[in-house]
Amino acid sequence: MTLNAPRSTPNGASHPPQHIAIVMDGNGRWARRRFLPRLAGHKQGVESLRRCLKACAARGVAVLTVFAFSSENWNRPQDEVSGLMELMGKALLREVPQLVEDGVRLFFIGERGGLSAGMRDALAQAEAATAQGARMVLNVCFNYGGRWDIAQAAAALAARGEAITEASLHGAMAMGHVPDPDLLIRTGGELRISNFLLWQAAYAELYFTDALWPDFDEAALDAAIADFAARERRFGRTSEQVVGVEPSTC
Ligand code: IPE
Ligand code: IPE
Ligand code: MG
Repeated sequence: MTLNAPRSTPNGASHPPQHIAIVMDGNGRWARRRFLPRLAGHKQGVESLRRCLKACAARGVAVLTVFAFSSENWNRPQDEVSGLMELMGKALLREVPQLVEDGVRLFFIGERGGLSAGMRDALAQAEAATAQGARMVLNVCFNYGGRWDIAQAAAALAARGEAITEASLHGAMAMGHVPDPDLLIRTGGELRISNFLLWQAAYAELYFTDALWPDFDEAALDAAIADFAARERRFGRTSEQVVGVEPSTC
């Protein structure tokens, strides 16, 4: 992957979302439509992620967070689960040198304890290898669930005898190193969150597309960013406050 210089969004907005989070859904259906095994869809999904990361870097996005394997995905057939684990290991071996070259810092977000010792080592090595990356952050949510994250953060605070507040919880969660996502994209047509970023998505703009993840290309990303740029983020305020116009009295 070679990264290009940041540019503004296609519709001219000067501020692309700083943090984009994606539920990369639809790999299985992409494969089924081609009469291929589901794992072929997951392999193509890795290619789509490489393309998306490059496109995000080119558009000045600082943080990309992707949902790669959920706490609930263990419920899939054993051969699909082991295939996904193997795919992750191989993808790391292949991609990490390029991530280092491109200044991408990798974080794995999720419950490490549920993974094999070999996988835990591979994740830790990839994080260490990319630790100097200063251009962009890639968070890969792997064996991740939003409920797990909230519970583990509360448990960590309780064990340290610290008060549980919004700020302390935020800091103790697995994504405490980045600001909350501005734009949350889900591919694959489902209109649900599936236990992704339950806390951090509080004020994310949501964008759902029928595109299957392997088909989510640069044009699809640009469409999502353009949609985001047209939203008015009010954070509880009125529209008049946001645009700096006095509300009319009636
Ligand atoms: C998302 O694609 C990838 C993972 C959950 C690992 P799916 O495998 O859920 O694809 P569909 O939803 O069956 O098409
Ligand atoms: C969400 O997709 C998890 C990932 C993309 C890793 P799923 O395909 O597992 O979600 P559900 O089961 O349709 O809600
Ligand atoms: Mg799915």
